[in-house]
Order: sequence, then C-alpha cells, then structure tokens
Amino acid sequence: MKLTWTTLLLLNSALMLNAASTDVAQLMEDKCSNCHFVSNAYKEMKAPPMWGVKKIVNQHYKTPQEAKAFIIDYVMNPSKEKMVFPEATLKRFGLMPSQKDKLTQEELEAIVEYFYR
Ligand code: HEC
Repeated sequence: MKLTWTTLLLLNSALMLNAASTDVAQLMEDKCSNCHFVSNAYKEMKAPPMWGVKKIVNQHYKTPQEAKAFIIDYVMNPSKEKMVFPEATLKRFGLMPSQKDKLTQEELEAIVEYFYR
C-alpha cells in the first residue's frame, strides 16, 4: 500500500485517541481498581468488580446520564441510603469510603465517561 499524507494523518489521530483512552484506563487502574478489580479474582476482592458495579447501576438508572450522575455523586459521597448494591454487599465489603481526597472531580468525570464510552 502506498502511504499518502491522508493515511498518515488518520493513523496519527487513531494513535492519539488510543493514547487518550489508555491514560484514563491507567487513571481508573490507580484510583478504582485497587478495590474494584476489573477481572474476577474473587478471593482477594475488597469490593465488587467494576463490571458488577456497572451492571447494578444500569439496572437502577435507566439513562446513561442518570447513571453517570449517580456514580459521580456516590464516589464522592457514598451512603447506605444511596447504595444500589444489596445488603449482602454491605455485609461483605462494608460501605465504600468517600474518594473525595483521592481524586479530582475532573478525574472522576473522565473515568465515568470512560465507562460509558
Ligand atoms: C477503598 C476501596 C474502594 C475504592 C478505592 C473505590 N471503591 Fe467503589 N466501592 C467500594 C465498596 C466496598 C463498594 C460496595 C459497597 C457500596 O456500595 O458502598 C463500592 C461500590 C461502588 C459503587 C456502587 C454504589 C452503590 O450504590 O452500591 C460505585 C458506583 C463505585 N463503587 C464506583 C467507584 C469508582 C468509579 C471508583 C474509582 C474512582 C471507586 N468506586 C473506588 C470500595 C471502593
């Protein structure tokens, strides 16, 4: 294939997009995956896995906008009253500690956008 400027430009922007989502993936790794394993390593879990979080939030909040708003609020201000996980989750893991001092609002919004991309 003959490389034209257009293909090079396309390639370049694809790489940049990729780099941007890798950054957020890394951010989520740093800020959430410590407790919410992205995989299924059941034994060492400190919290439900992220796919489980997304699933249960989506069952309670019908639109992505509502779901995103809920997660953003919950991560900063968790409470028993707001929880969508059942009682059993609370018994097993305890309430999620607020992440207010662990990440910025912008970082959290980027993570939540990344969930729903
Ligand atoms: C210190 C451990 C810890 C960290 C770090 C953590 N979580 Fe959690 N999270 C928990 C636990 C435990 C639960 C289950 C109990 C609960 O719902 O509060 C939970 C539950 C949740 C829920 C479901 C809330 C509900 O209504 O039941 C959401 C949404 C969530 N986490 C998002 C996040 C996101 C996004 C991050 C990263 C910015 C994060 N958490 C970081 C421990 C953590």
